[in-house]
Amino acid sequence: MSRENRIDYGAVRSYFARPSDGNADCASYMAHAQDLPESAANDRFRKELETMQDWVAAVGPSSRVLDIGCGSGTWTELFAGRFASVIALEQSPPMLEAARARLAPYSNVELVNQDARDPLPPGPFGLVFVGGLCMYLSDSDATTLVRSVVERLADGGCVIFRESTIADGYERPQGAYQAIYRSVDVYRSLFREAGLPGVIVRRNQGYTRMEIAVELVELRRRRVPILPHTSPFLGALTWRLLRVSSPVSFGLLPRAFARLGVRWPRLQNHFFMLKKDDPQQSLTLEGSS
Ligand SMILES: C[S@@+](CC[C@H](N)C(=O)[O-])C[C@H]1O[C@@H](n2cnc3c(N)ncnc32)[C@H](O)[C@@H]1O
Repeated sequence: MSRENRIDYGAVRSYFARPSDGNADCASYMAHAQDLPESAANDRFRKELETMQDWVAAVGPSSRVLDIGCGSGTWTELFAGRFASVIALEQSPPMLEAARARLAPYSNVELVNQDARDPLPPGPFGLVFVGGLCMYLSDSDATTLVRSVVERLADGGCVIFRESTIADGYERPQGAYQAIYRSVDVYRSLFREAGLPGVIVRRNQGYTRMEIAVELVELRRRRVPILPHTSPFLGALTWRLLRVSSPVSFGLLPRAFARLGVRWPRLQNHFFMLKKDDPQQSLTLEGSS
């Protein structure tokens, strides 16, 4: 990849070192900054699971799973209930604490306080999940991560990435919240760079629903500054209104914008599934939008 993108790792670390008001579940699903309720994060998770259900179902129950950047452990818990064992890595102590509380009933989970740039635990893993982590890594660190994940895959094993995406190229929010948003095509070339040309891409509709709420809250903050900037009540109200009008708000409206050539919500999110040693895969690409 010709372009190196840098990120302030200290800023990322500080951001996730203080998840909002102790609600690690909302912070893990990025619902916290706009005061959206936990039900918005849960809705997103349910829809995400629908999107990648068949990928997860294809993994053998006796598999070992690696969950990198596990946050408060939403996915770790799902994997713990379905597979032989899970190792979950997370750099943020409060996130890890929340994951520890959630996963207390499971004896087949190992939670590790670790930066994903440090050497990963040895494989083989039948499934590796990397949910919303590459967006906090530079291109070269993300490529290194993909390579070391692939080295640890069991024969026939797969890795699933879930990343926020923009229409073209790169975008980098600066300040307290730092990330690198990449287009689907940039991710494709990043996987190619790591030696994996074949990737199946699916749009994350669960993220889209939540992101519509995020963008509406941001709009209200800009346009109606007389209302309180931080308000769990207004966040919950926004989500509730969107939910009751969902055929329009989550269906008709985004489709109408798409027909007009307007990308809304602007920030989207995709799943990328890569399999080790699957020559067929490079031939079976699904739509990316
Ligand atoms: C958007 S959250 C997603 C959490 C989880 N994967 C999920 O789907 O609920 C991103 C997580 O990645 C963690 N993270 C960011 N950079 C990391 C790094 N270099 N090493 C390990 N974890 C990291 C953050 O602390 C945060 O918990």
